[in-house]
Amino acid sequence: MVISIINQKGGVAKTTTAVNLAYEWARLGQKILLIDLDPQASATKSIFGDEEFDNTAFDLILQNKPASQIIQKSKNFSIDVIPGEILMSGVDLKLATQYGREKYLRKALMPLKSKYDRIIIDCSPTLGLVTVNALMASKEILIPICPEYFSLKGIELIIGTLKSIRSGLGHKVQVRGIVITRYKNRKVVTDVIQRVTETYGFKVYKNYVPDTISVEEAHHNHKPVALFAPTSKATLAYRAIAKEIQKS
Ligand SMILES: Nc1ncnc2c1ncn2[C@@H]1O[C@H](COP(=O)(O)OP(=O)(O)OP(=O)(O)O)[C@@H](O)[C@H]1O
Ligand SMILES: [Mg+2]
Repeated sequence: MVISIINQKGGVAKTTTAVNLAYEWARLGQKILLIDLDPQASATKSIFGDEEFDNTAFDLILQNKPASQIIQKSKNFSIDVIPGEILMSGVDLKLATQYGREKYLRKALMPLKSKYDRIIIDCSPTLGLVTVNALMASKEILIPICPEYFSLKGIELIIGTLKSIRSGLGHKVQVRGIVITRYKNRKVVTDVIQRVTETYGFKVYKNYVPDTISVEEAHHNHKPVALFAPTSKATLAYRAIAKEIQKS
């Protein structure tokens, strides 16, 4: 099953959510592949530090390279990773003139699907062709929302994109749920959840990830927060959310 973590709003913890859920699901015994589609390569840096890779998502999408040559094993925990890199910023333009440009990633992932329990795609905050490729390859999406900077416009944009993918390309992507991240104030969270559920009826996971320095520190130590701060509230939240998603 392929799931994309998406929100065109920057800094809402897409990457943090992708890495930490990948860790938690692997911990539950699932075989996980994490794909970093962001030219900033934050997920890759968060797992491997400054290490650079010859083969990345760029080669998977555009060069038709077999995944076996691209996949890296994370060192601190047991997931497979297709790294990102700065060259990903040119992929939209390169795909633009290609026939079937929306389905390059979907095709590349076909032989991998049966090898993993979950393939998690960390999307960049732009809604270009690469993100459309992620959606075309996905059965469902998770939307991380940071309540303090929340606006309904962001969700409208995602819903509009899902609608056009369905009508124009015949592919249905489901919103699996909303993950509340970096929360500081329970009152703000309650307001946001009310707006999201009343307006769209999306599922909002009951556990929220608090804004805590340990998440930032874990990132700089190239670890999921669970390995850096095992008892931190963020660790417990991601652990509980991973289970909530699993059960839903
Ligand atoms: N729960 C949290 N508490 C504190 N800091 C957090 C938390 N979650 C994420 N951060 C920090 O916020 C910043 C943005 O997070 P992240 O990179 O995951 O967001 P993003 O949505 O992937 O951003 P982008 O849109 O640039 O891809 C990072 O510095 C990260 O370490
Ligand atoms: Mg990111």
